[in-house]
Amino acid sequence: MSSSETVSGRAQSGRVFGKRILITGAARGMGRSHAVRLAEEGADLILVDICESLPEIEYPLASVEDLEETARLVRKHDRRAITRVVDVRDAAALSAAVADGVAELGGLDAAVANAGVLTVGTWDTTTSEQWRTVVDVNLIGSWNTCAAAIPHLVDSGGSLVIISSSAGLKGTPLHIPYTASKHGVVGLSRALANELAAQNIRVNTVHPTGVETGMRPESLQGLLAEARPDLIPIFLNALPMAMAEASDISNAVLFLVSDESRSVTGLEFKVDAGVTLR
Ligand SMILES: NC(=O)c1ccc[n+]([C@@H]2O[C@H](COP(=O)([O-])OP(=O)(O)OC[C@H]3O[C@@H](n4cnc5c(N)ncnc54)[C@H](O)[C@@H]3O)[C@@H](O)[C@H]2O)c1
Repeated sequence: MSSSETVSGRAQSGRVFGKRILITGAARGMGRSHAVRLAEEGADLILVDICESLPEIEYPLASVEDLEETARLVRKHDRRAITRVVDVRDAAALSAAVADGVAELGGLDAAVANAGVLTVGTWDTTTSEQWRTVVDVNLIGSWNTCAAAIPHLVDSGGSLVIISSSAGLKGTPLHIPYTASKHGVVGLSRALANELAAQNIRVNTVHPTGVETGMRPESLQGLLAEARPDLIPIFLNALPMAMAEASDISNAVLFLVSDESRSVTGLEFKVDAGVTLR
């Protein structure tokens, strides 16, 4: 038992105790991991997910049951969890859902723009539908998340965390729309960090290497092995680990949301096992 827990498991203190935090793409994978880690450290959460698959994405997205399971895991720590099924591409619906959640929790302190999708293909097989879906969800959806949160942060300051990727810092091939969208959020974050610094709102990106989650496009391995084995080294971590753990990324998110990072803004926080060194 950690010092932040009582016998009942309720987080009574913690590194983000009492903070109210929005997370998108919260139904599974890293979004769920962030939610549970932040709840362990005393946060209350607004959990958003599309809970529906998309035709342009080759692997299934999360379900309503997944989102409710995340909420259950948060509530195990006796923290509040509000769930909303929303597509981050729908700015109006997202803003309304966040406003509802904020009214229920009594305020907002931070947001984590985590929802994202990945398509796979060589430059000459990637379709305009794939481009639009990936940019809409990963880049414009991250913007929509910030835009929904900012009005609730301007009075007392706060933290915006955008989940990018190692593909937001290097030219990761065979998913050009994804790599472009993940570079795009770096520009979004830097510009927003400048605009919002005066209001004490910090904006940072996190850049994970590969993590085992539901984001599993089977075609990537085949394409690499059969068509472009020459590109395999670009995907290899420097540290002796094939993948990072979701909790490794959640610890970076926790730091950026907490007051421990009060003087950190405009950071590209790599949690990438050294893959961008290569
Ligand atoms: N898994 C990796 O190797 C890896 C590496 C670097 C970065 N990332 C990034 O981490 C973030 C989390 O991904 P993950 O690996 O947990 O994948 P995941 O597919 O398991 O989780 C993504 C979640 O986002 C939700 N989502 C997708 N589109 C949405 C939309 N339009 N609106 C609302 N919710 C939507 C999905 O339903 C799912 O629950 C993503 O931004 C991803 O690009 C992942």
